[in-house]
Amino acid sequence: MKFSQFNYHSSFPLLFAIFLAFSWLMRAEAQTHEQFLHCLSHHSNDSSSISKLVYSRNNCSYSSILESSIQNLRFDTAATPKPLLIVTPFHASHIQATIYCSKSHGLQIRTRSGGHDYEGLSYVSEVPFVLIDLVNLRSIDIDVENGVAWVQSGATLGELYYRISEKTRTLAFPAGTCPTIGVGGHLSGGGYGLLFRKYGLAADNVIDAHVINADGRILDRKSMGEDLFWAIRGGSGGSFGIVLDWKLKLVPVPPTVTIFSVTKTIEQNATQLIHRWQYIAHKLPKDIILIVFISKVNETVETSFTGMFLGPVNKLIWLTGTRFPELGLTKQDCIETSWIQGLYTGQFPNNNLENLLNRTAANKSWFKIKSDYVKEPIPESVFEEIWPKYFNEEGGRYGSIYLIPYGGKMDEIPGTATPFSHRAGNMYKIIYTVGGQEDGFQSYLNWIRRFYDDMTPYVSKSPREAYVNYRDLDIGVNNRSGNTSYAEASIWGLKYFKNNFRRLVSVKTLVDPQNFFKHEQSIPSLSPS
Ligand SMILES: Cc1cc2nc3c(=O)[nH]c(=O)nc-3n(C[C@H](O)[C@H](O)[C@H](O)COP(=O)(O)OP(=O)(O)OC[C@H]3O[C@@H](n4cnc5c(N)ncnc54)[C@H](O)[C@@H]3O)c2cc1C
Ligand SMILES: *[C@@H]1O[C@H](CO)[C@@H](O)[C@H](O)[C@H]1NC(C)=O
Ligand SMILES: *[C@@H]1O[C@H](CO)[C@@H](O)[C@H](O)[C@H]1NC(C)=O
Ligand SMILES: *[C@@H]1O[C@H](CO)[C@@H](O)[C@H](O)[C@H]1NC(C)=O
Ligand SMILES: *[C@@H]1O[C@H](CO)[C@@H](O)[C@H](O)[C@H]1NC(C)=O
Ligand SMILES: *[C@@H]1O[C@H](CO)[C@@H](O)[C@H](O)[C@H]1NC(C)=O
Ligand SMILES: *[C@@H]1O[C@H](CO)[C@@H](O)[C@H](O)[C@H]1NC(C)=O
Ligand SMILES: *[C@@H]1O[C@H](CO)[C@@H](O)[C@H](O)[C@H]1NC(C)=O
Ligand SMILES: *[C@@H]1O[C@H](CO)[C@@H](O)[C@H](O)[C@H]1NC(C)=O
Repeated sequence: MKFSQFNYHSSFPLLFAIFLAFSWLMRAEAQTHEQFLHCLSHHSNDSSSISKLVYSRNNCSYSSILESSIQNLRFDTAATPKPLLIVTPFHASHIQATIYCSKSHGLQIRTRSGGHDYEGLSYVSEVPFVLIDLVNLRSIDIDVENGVAWVQSGATLGELYYRISEKTRTLAFPAGTCPTIGVGGHLSGGGYGLLFRKYGLAADNVIDAHVINADGRILDRKSMGEDLFWAIRGGSGGSFGIVLDWKLKLVPVPPTVTIFSVTKTIEQNATQLIHRWQYIAHKLPKDIILIVFISKVNETVETSFTGMFLGPVNKLIWLTGTRFPELGLTKQDCIETSWIQGLYTGQFPNNNLENLLNRTAANKSWFKIKSDYVKEPIPESVFEEIWPKYFNEEGGRYGSIYLIPYGGKMDEIPGTATPFSHRAGNMYKIIYTVGGQEDGFQSYLNWIRRFYDDMTPYVSKSPREAYVNYRDLDIGVNNRSGNTSYAEASIWGLKYFKNNFRRLVSVKTLVDPQNFFKHEQSIPSLSPS
């Protein structure tokens, strides 16, 4: 109906009906809230605090709490479905009670640690749901003597790194670089950063954990058994239970590391260098990671060769001079610093590490990200023709590509040791990103999808592998109610996990047969529900 044809009088009964329905919904919602609170206080050991941790939609703090850790502005719009209630537990019993009451009220739950999920799966659902936000569960306990740490899921990586560096400069944890990422989701999906060629993934360095299962029971490694303990270390969040905290093995780093960056444009032979990089980067010693970042700058395409070396600058210059002389790395391209400063040099004003404790990300944006694995070098002509073509399109102004070299420790860990299956045989990972702070991004989603399609011949096949922590709802059929069949789920399941997907399904079927923990791409249960 065109707006000009809209007749107020004839629509009055309709409007009135809508109004009635709306007020009924509001009442129903208020009632649900009341009943839910009542249920929570009955099922928690500490009923006095319950009312202080539940936010309903008419609470004036509801929006700020909901938005606090949303990273992707695509899922922060008026049209984005919102939770009925937000629960911010202070201890495990609040989570247990929330699980119990969500079940008895027929509500779905979504669990959020750092809110960095690329598809917003931790805080968006199309069925009525309760959001459990773990922001208050973020204690960190570092034991330098034994080289271990206990960290709660709601902590951020920045908080974890800061607490480690407060106590020692020669221990670290091999996880992602973005400081506002949550420990809970990150470890659940693998988690890699600048140390992963040396020590593997974050999930590879987890030695114990506490999980609250669908029955509300708290399990540790011993009581959950090795199958579930295997599944939670990379099988992706939101499928098996709520991980309360993790015991981590910290890893040694030298007091001085070297960070470096060399920039080349297409005119400076960046294309030949990228091509050459493919043969070299994954075979370099574990102590170095050499990442490629490609983006459009002014009217050309610029490539940064950047990374970290676990040692002094002289040794690095010798190493790259021997193994990759074409790069022309010099001392001027390098900075010697500590591991933690090295991660964040240039990111904060005055490089003030206190900023690691700030959970509010600067410069939130809308974005779409896709990933690929490369097992054979890509012909130079692809970098000469296909890539410049995309960067020269309008979307290219908002896009960028990262190449993350594999090899090192990643080749040594068997593909079945954890659910993360992208190990030996992978030369590198491609990350395609498009995003920005302005509106009107929809037209650029198409850009990244076409780019990805054009790369099909050059990347892993049968399955075309992808990294589950780079969640991508373009892959396969996704039932937004979380009711996905095995056949549907195996489309993305095999891409994310290869044959480990089958073991994940059998663990899921054992620990959560009723499929209580679910989302668009959660691991399906084979039990008839
Ligand atoms: C800016 C940015 C930079 C990134 N950089 C890297 C990087 O360097 N390396 C890398 O590996 N990844 C990186 N990622 C991806 C990141 O690792 C994943 O998005 C990760 O899942 C985020 O964890 P989270 O706790 O912040 O996310 P959330 O959105 O809170 O959770 C992600 C998923 O895990 C579930 N979940 C959350 N907490 C729990 C819990 N306690 N128990 C069970 N399930 C849970 C959620 O329900 C959801 O399904 C980056 C993401 C962003 C936005
Ligand atoms: C909002 O919710 C919080 C947490 O439950 C509560 O402490 C606060 O009183 C509520 N505020 C209003 C205005 O309802
Ligand atoms: C409730 O249980 C938690 C453990 O889950 C405990 O830390 C807390 O002290 C208990 N509170 C009360 C009032 O018993
Ligand atoms: C680029 O490569 C060509 C051919 O190998 C060489 O002649 C030229 O000097 C290089 N240009 C730069 C800027 O390195
Ligand atoms: C891009 O343009 C800016 C401003 O003109 C200039 O400072 C910068 O050096 C240019 N970068 C490249 C890679 O050409
Ligand atoms: C945290 O970071 C945000 C975004 O950069 C900034 O606006 C805010 O002032 C910072 N808070 C503190 C306490 O530094
Ligand atoms: C945020 O954006 C501003 C302006 O574009 C930029 O100067 C700043 O470096 C960005 N901050 C981060 C942490 O990316
Ligand atoms: C998704 O699940 C819902 C609810 O069970 C079901 O009605 C619907 O048919 C499913 N959709 C698809 C595409 O499978
Ligand atoms: C899920 O979908 C299947 C068919 O796609 C249907 O048989 C089943 O009843 C659905 N379950 C729920 C809980 O909606």
